Amino acid sequence: MQSCSSHNEAQDRTILTEEQRKFLDRALRVNQAGELAATLIYTAQTPPVVKAHPNLRPLMKHMYDQEAGHFKTFNELLAKHRIRPTAMYPVWQAAATILGWSTGVMGREAAMACTEAVETEIGDHYNGQVREMFKWMQDLQEKGEELDPELKVLIDDIKRIRDEELEHLDYAVENDAKEAQPYQPLTDVIRYGCKGAIWISERI
Ligand SMILES: [Fe+2]
Ligand SMILES: [Fe+2]
Repeated sequence: MQSCSSHNEAQDRTILTEEQRKFLDRALRVNQAGELAATLIYTAQTPPVVKAHPNLRPLMKHMYDQEAGHFKTFNELLAKHRIRPTAMYPVWQAAATILGWSTGVMGREAAMACTEAVETEIGDHYNGQVREMFKWMQDLQEKGEELDPELKVLIDDIKRIRDEELEHLDYAVENDAKEAQPYQPLTDVIRYGCKGAIWISERI
């Protein structure tokens, strides 16, 4: 029989199901990979974009700085929960740099279309995670239990990051993402690329 104190401890802590643990592992692994890619896209885009349009320097820096903050958040979470990064890490590093460089060289509009496409996918991706964890919270509340405070912080972090990604999406549209040539094939390729990268990073 459990001692009284350990019983109370168990009550204070949310016991995640095996499935929920796996969901979190996958989610944090994918998020870290995505944020790594985001920092590298901006690193590669910034020189050609800013050279042609010096007025965009503060915006590019602002978006990069936010991505670097997101990346740091997920790096810390992976270390804390001993989650391994995706095995595709080096591949995503190369792919993100190529994507950033090529859209940057294509011009301001293409660079912004890249941000628009990426953030559309990432916004959806983070929304899916928030929805899932919100369900856990509701299920627990129905049972009269509380979600682990650490998980509440995680939900808030993901919501904040999602809002910042959607802010980038707005900046991109304000800065003529839709004028990119050829807009449709370019954004389709990037969006499918993101979906594929998410799918793969969840698994390996
Ligand atoms: Fe980000
Ligand atoms: Fe972003």
